Amino acid sequence: MGVGDDAGVYLYEGSIFVHTVDFITPVVNDPYLWGGISAANSLSDVYAMGCLPLNALAIVGFNNCELQPSVLQEVMKGCVDKLKEAKTVLLGGHTVDDKEPKFGLAVMGVCQDGCFISQSGAKAGNLVVLTKPVGVGILTKAIKEGKIKEKDIGEAIEYMLMLNNRASKLAKGLGATACTDVTGFGLLGHAYNIARRSGVSLHIDFSKVPIYEEAVHFVRQKIHPKGAVDNYNFVKEHMVHEGLEWWQLLLLTDPVTSGGLLFTFPEERAKDLDGLCKELGIRAWIIGKVEEGQGLRVF
Ligand code: CO
Ligand code: CO
Ligand code: CO
Repeated sequence: MGVGDDAGVYLYEGSIFVHTVDFITPVVNDPYLWGGISAANSLSDVYAMGCLPLNALAIVGFNNCELQPSVLQEVMKGCVDKLKEAKTVLLGGHTVDDKEPKFGLAVMGVCQDGCFISQSGAKAGNLVVLTKPVGVGILTKAIKEGKIKEKDIGEAIEYMLMLNNRASKLAKGLGATACTDVTGFGLLGHAYNIARRSGVSLHIDFSKVPIYEEAVHFVRQKIHPKGAVDNYNFVKEHMVHEGLEWWQLLLLTDPVTSGGLLFTFPEERAKDLDGLCKELGIRAWIIGKVEEGQGLRVF
């Protein structure tokens, strides 16, 4: 526990609470979907800690002259429906005038069973799991550049809308030793956080990482957000990579909105992974292994 985990931890008379805040600019044009995605994204930090969200406050940046108030109503509806799905309630919020719309939540959660998952417990020999594909930053960039339509990235939108509640159950069920959610720093940025905080090295096999097919197509045409390069420049000095092309590395550093959970767990539990996934109705991919050492090795 400490600065740098996905949510702040607060202990009060034997109960463990977690608090987190997150907001984003629009990633899709449909305001209802944006509200839902933003809510799922904000709740994700609570799930990454193996906790349950209880309630939330909305943070809104909106300009009534630039956009119709009905747009904001749709955003709120998308958010509230997503919170309902998470069995969480919206208690209130605050709006500021902002030319570039922003929407997000401050979320309070509880750790019911008394054991939350931090980023610092990964051990050599553990396996590394990811629960959603990467490449969504590249897809939204392609939409902004008019190369692809929103209706053509249905799978990515479904994944962004998907709560990490079941992934959190999967992580706990497998005895996860460290966990985080993949968001703005990209897969490698978040993997590096686990490596650094746990004092181990994460080895990631590119061929095992789930990636949206269209993202591969666009990144090879140099269509990607600037953030992918910024993230790459941040992790490169902590990483050795073997035989990967520039575009493969950018797929792994592409900033993600509402990404999956990235967690480590003991190898002897690997036999339970498929059964638990089936039971929970989700997918998960083993993308690498934890080894002694430090930083990342990508191959
Ligand atoms: Co997080
Ligand atoms: Co966050
Ligand atoms: Co206020």
